[in-house]
This record gives sequence, structure tokens and C-alpha cells, in this order.
Amino acid sequence: MSVIMLNVNPNRPDLSKIRLAAKAIKSGKLVVFPTETVYGIGANALDGKACMKIFRVKGRPQDNPLIVHVSSMEMAERIAEIPPKYRKQIMALWPGPLTLILKAKAGIPKEVTAGLPTVAVRFPSNLVALALIKAAGVPIAAPSANVSKRPSATEASHAASYFRKGVAYIIDSGISSFGIESTILDLSGFRILRPGAMTVEQISSAFMKRPILSPEATAKGVKGKPISPGMKYLHYSPEKPLLLFTGNRAELAKIFKRHGNDAAFIGSEESCMALGDLVKNKLVLGRRNDQRMAARNLFRYLIKLDSLDVNFGIAEAVPENGLGTAVMNRLRKASGNRECASAYEAERFIQKIKAPKMRHKAKSSH
Ligand code: TXA
Ligand code: MG
Repeated sequence: MSVIMLNVNPNRPDLSKIRLAAKAIKSGKLVVFPTETVYGIGANALDGKACMKIFRVKGRPQDNPLIVHVSSMEMAERIAEIPPKYRKQIMALWPGPLTLILKAKAGIPKEVTAGLPTVAVRFPSNLVALALIKAAGVPIAAPSANVSKRPSATEASHAASYFRKGVAYIIDSGISSFGIESTILDLSGFRILRPGAMTVEQISSAFMKRPILSPEATAKGVKGKPISPGMKYLHYSPEKPLLLFTGNRAELAKIFKRHGNDAAFIGSEESCMALGDLVKNKLVLGRRNDQRMAARNLFRYLIKLDSLDVNFGIAEAVPENGLGTAVMNRLRKASGNRECASAYEAERFIQKIKAPKMRHKAKSSH
């Protein structure tokens, strides 16, 4: 069965279409749907067999648990224990791009939690997502709608190219408003496991205390057993290698003087202007101080990089505050920690990027 696209108005979701998708969820099928962060690929969270299908079509390792989406506080309480001392603060931040790690109640399939005693719960604010969960009458388990390791889908067309079968419907409601996944907050240790669309500053002001940023949350070369199982896997990667550049514009210009035909640039409007004709392929994230725009364009451009006639990409670092913390986390992961601050450092990575190809060519010529 091929995938059916449903166009749904993001502001006034068409209920007849939502009901079709909800029926598919209830009968154990998968539906791609929009949220305010990224598109999700969802199944009935109370149906272990349906959730297994998510792992299969994504190629997702089974020890990586899923986020369960709810459409009300009551629904959240049916599946997880909400600590009474945090109830008020949670209600101030929900619905929104915040996922909480909570103690799981009985009845949640092990496929969802990967056997952990906790469950990740998210109450999204996107009207289409809410309408779908309400119409299905069950919580919906949904990871981001990308095949494993690849950048998350921020447009329905991304999901359509990732999933050509195995999904009943893709609900298309346009470009994701944040473009970057939810923030994951572990309430037991009050630490952020994954920075995301809800900023540390917003969480701090609601809870009147600052959460700890777990080492994985910055993605700076973490070793050992991660607290959030998903964090140990390669993530958000374009097929083409990506470098993360943290240096100044003079150094950046030196790199592009040499590799301007070979590399695409992902960065601010200001840097693109400064580089001028040195770069052919520019993917403009937005004005330097427009973090919202950078987050919204990021995955779109990581996906686009693969379709350009270049061998690799160079992304410019952004300041690590507000949404910038999440953007840098994704860039570090997407670049596989190929971080460099000078043309000299970049050149070492670039030579390595080119080297395996040459070895491969040498081998295949035998
Ligand atoms: O914005 C989002 O959060 C999107 C939309 C669709 O809601 N979803 C999303 O799901 O990003 P996914 O599967 O791509 O990321 C979920 C992350 C994984 O890293 C997983 O390991 C972690 O949440 N996670 C899930 N349950 C957990 C748990 N009980 N303890 C710790 N981490 C958990
Ligand atoms: Mg994901």
C-alpha cells in the first residue's frame, strides 16, 4: 500500500481527514503527523505491536524508547506519575515543546519504554497533533519522522521521501514552526537530556531553578553509558560530510578560497554576504541574531545539502544561548564532532574526507 497524503489546514484542522488518520492509529497503523517541533511518525502508544512497526520502518534500534504524545493533563496522568510538587510549573509550560521523563504507570508496552521504569511524555501545542490524539482517544507514541540517523523531517515532503511504504497517512500541514525537536527534561534529576525548542531560560523561569545540562546535551564528545538511550546514536547526519566551523570570517574565507566549488556553506546572512562570490552554494540560516529562523531552517538545509553538487558542507557555529544551545547540539551531532576553528584545522578534516574515496577508487581498480 502506498502512503496517502492528507493536506490539513494547520489553524483549522479538517476533522474528516483527522478522523481517517485517527482510525488508522486505532487499527494499529502508522501515521506521520505535524507537531510544533518536527513531524512525528506515530502509533497507538498502548499497542506494543503497532509501536514495533515504528522501529521497523525507521530502522531504529529497539533500546531507544519513544516519546508518548498526549492531548490533556488527564491523559498524561493515565500513563505517568506527575510529581505533585511540579504540577503547577508543568501546567505553565504544557502544551509546548517540552518532553518530561516521568515514572511510567502500568500498561505501557515495553516497546515504548525500551523496558525502562520511566516514560517520556509530551503534550504538544500543535492543533493538528492535538486533534489527532483526541480523535484517536489514545496517547500516540511518536519519534521524529526520519529514518534512523538522518535529519528530522520539518516538512511533510521530507517524511514522504523517507517513508515510501509502511505508513498509512502523512498529514501535511506545512513547515514545522520550531523546526527542532522538543527539549527533554528529566524531572528526577532536574537535568536536560536533550536541548530543544523550549529554552533553558524558559524552563528556569517556570521552575525558579536552573536545570543541569547533562554532558550529552551539548554533544561534546561524550563517553560512557548515556542517560537517554537515544543520545549514543549517530544523529541528524546528512549523507555528505559536514564540518562545524567555530572560527572567524577571515579563516572561513581562507577555506572557501580553496574549496568554494567543492563545499556548501550553511550559515548566517551576514557571513554569506561577507563570503560573497567565494561560495557558490550558500544555505542562508537567517540573520545572525535570529535564532528562531536558524532552528527552523537547520534540518531543511541538512537535507538539502545532499542534493547539491558539492562533496561536503561547512556549517557556521551559532552562539550557545536560547535556541542556539539546541542548534549547536544538532550541528555537533550532524558533523560527527568535526569541529574546527581555523583553515588549518579544517584542511585536516577535508583531506580525511577526500582520502577514503581515493582509497576506495584504488581498491575498485583491481
Ligand atoms: O519534538 C520531539 O520531541 C519529536 C516530536 C515528534 O514530538 N520527537 C522526537 O522523538 O524527537 P525521538 O524519538 O526522535 O527522540 C526521543 C528521544 C530519544 O533520544 C530517546 O532516547 C529519548 O527521547 N527518550 C525516550 N524515552 C526516554 C526515557 N524513558 N528516558 C530517557 N530518554 C528517553
Ligand atoms: Mg529523532
